[in-house]
Amino acid sequence: MKKRLLTGLQSSGTLHIGNYFGALKPFLDTYQDYDSYLMVADYHALTSLRDPEAMRQNIYDVVKDYLAVGVDPEKCVIFRQSDNQDHMELAWVLDCMVTVSFLELAHAYKDKVAKGLEANAGLFTYPMLQAADITLYNIDVVPVGEDQRQHLEYTREAVGKLNRAYNQELLKEPETLILEGVGVVPGTDGEKMSKSKGNTIPLFGTTEEIEKAVMGIVTDSTGERPENVYAIHRLLKPDAELDPVYEAHKGRYGDLKKLLAADLDTFIAPLRERRAAITDEQVKEVLTAGVAKAKETSHQTIARVRQTIGIAL
Ligand code: ADP
Ligand code: TRP
Repeated sequence: MKKRLLTGLQSSGTLHIGNYFGALKPFLDTYQDYDSYLMVADYHALTSLRDPEAMRQNIYDVVKDYLAVGVDPEKCVIFRQSDNQDHMELAWVLDCMVTVSFLELAHAYKDKVAKGLEANAGLFTYPMLQAADITLYNIDVVPVGEDQRQHLEYTREAVGKLNRAYNQELLKEPETLILEGVGVVPGTDGEKMSKSKGNTIPLFGTTEEIEKAVMGIVTDSTGERPENVYAIHRLLKPDAELDPVYEAHKGRYGDLKKLLAADLDTFIAPLRERRAAITDEQVKEVLTAGVAKAKETSHQTIARVRQTIGIAL
C-alpha cells in the first residue's frame, strides 16, 4: 500500500521560477510514489482576498499552472477545498479542541497582524482549517516549504488533543516533509526571488518578458564571473557544461545574459504553450472529477468523527 500525501496551495497569483525549482519540481519528482492529493485552498485565500473576480481567476490560474508543469490529474487527486463541505465541518470540531492562547502563538497569524493585516477570525483559525484539509484524507505526509512547518505542528497538536479526548486514534497525525529543493533561487537583484519584491522571472513569461528580466539581473563587475547569472543558469544546465562557456565569455556579461535568456526560453516555451492550451472548461472537469474522489475518503472520516463525538443519532 502506498502512503498518502497531500499538499495545499492558496490561490494567489503568478508563479515564478523560484516557485518552480523550490516547490513545484520537488513535488513533481515525488508525488507518484504516493496516493497524492493536491488541493486549492480557496477558502484560506478568503482570509485576505475580497475581490470575487480575482478569486475566480486565481482558482483557474493555479490549476492551469499545475497541469502545465506536468501534474497528471489521473495520478493525483486535484480538487478544491470549497467544493467539499467536510472541510468546514471538521475545522469546527478541531476549533473546539484548541485554546485561544494556542492559536495566538501561530507565526503566520502573528506576522500578518504585525504587518497590519486585519486579524479576522478566519485568519485566526486558519491552522485548524488546514488541519482539517489534511486529516480528512488520512494523510501520512505533507510536503511544504519551511514557512509551513509550524502549521503542521499545529495539526499534530490538535489531532493529539482530539484523539486523547475520545481515547482512540480518530484522526491520523501527519508527518511534515520539508522540501529539500535547490535552496533559495535568487531574483534579478540577487536577493531571494519573491513576488512581493518585483525581482522575479515569470515561469510562464513570454520571450520578451524573460529577456527583459534577465538583462536586468544585477551583476558584480569585480568578480570572475557574474554569480547572479550563473546561479540561475545552473538550475538549467550542469556546471560541467556551463563552466567552459563562462570561461570563454569571461567579462562579457551581456553575452552570458543572452545565453541564459535563450536557455530559459527553451525551458519555458513548452510550459507556456501547454498552459495556453488549457481551457477553463478543462479546469472545471479536473476539479469535478477530483472532488468526487476526494469525498470518497472524507465522507468516511467525517462519519467516524460524528459517530465518535456523539452527534450521529
Ligand atoms: P513568494 O515568496 O514569491 O510569495 P510563496 O511564499 O507563495 O512565494 O512560495 C510558494 C512556494 O515556493 C513555497 O514552497 C516556497 O518555499 C517556494 N519558493 C518561493 N520563492 C522561492 C525561491 N526564491 N527559491 C526557492 N523556493 C521558493
Ligand atoms: N497554508 C498553506 C500555505 O499558505 C496552504 C495550505 C492550506 C496547505 N491547506 C493546506 C498546505 C494543507 C498543506 C496542507 O502555503
